[in-house]
Amino acid sequence: MEIKYIFENNQQWVKEKIKTDKDYFKKLSLGQNPHILYIGCSDSRVSTEELMGAQPGEVFVHRNIANMVPNTDMSAMSVINYAVTQLKVQHIVVCGHYYCTGVKAAMQSADLGILNPWLRNIRDVYRLHKAELDTVTDEEEKYKRLVELNVQEQCVNVIKTSDVQKAIKERQLTVHGWVFDVHSGGLIDLKIDFEKILENIMEIYKII
Ligand code: CO
Repeated sequence: MEIKYIFENNQQWVKEKIKTDKDYFKKLSLGQNPHILYIGCSDSRVSTEELMGAQPGEVFVHRNIANMVPNTDMSAMSVINYAVTQLKVQHIVVCGHYYCTGVKAAMQSADLGILNPWLRNIRDVYRLHKAELDTVTDEEEKYKRLVELNVQEQCVNVIKTSDVQKAIKERQLTVHGWVFDVHSGGLIDLKIDFEKILENIMEIYKII
């Protein structure tokens, strides 16, 4: 991808969209009504809308290194607040991906400067699930499992917020944990049993 082609590509894309509907962008400018909030990794291989077959206006997107939802991260918390209370999304997806370099970095001993506190959140996931992860002897399998467990814990972080708790209670908002497999291109629903997890944690995190 060379930067000089981007504006040409953009004009090509505009033409394509207008060919099928001449008012396409006029309609887009009227507003957005997405039903899904997607929280994913910034990794350039995980092309959010493309892999879901989503069109502009359909998915509200938040991406950062390793699809994290730290409790004190103003950016993630603001995105969740806006998506849930204003856009009234019906689904929140946390989508991790195998071969995530952020997760891999958190499994190694290296001083990465400003990334240390960010990746420490993943080390905390490791500590929470150490008993299970220690039983996985194959390094690649362990790394994949940590990707999945990180998705699960970030979903739990989503559920810790009062906006989400309220929306689950009042209008059955649903939280989903997914993983994108870079190796096959497939999207996997981890089918996390939130009811069971919630039963265990709501005693602690229940706000409303
Ligand atoms: Co990643």
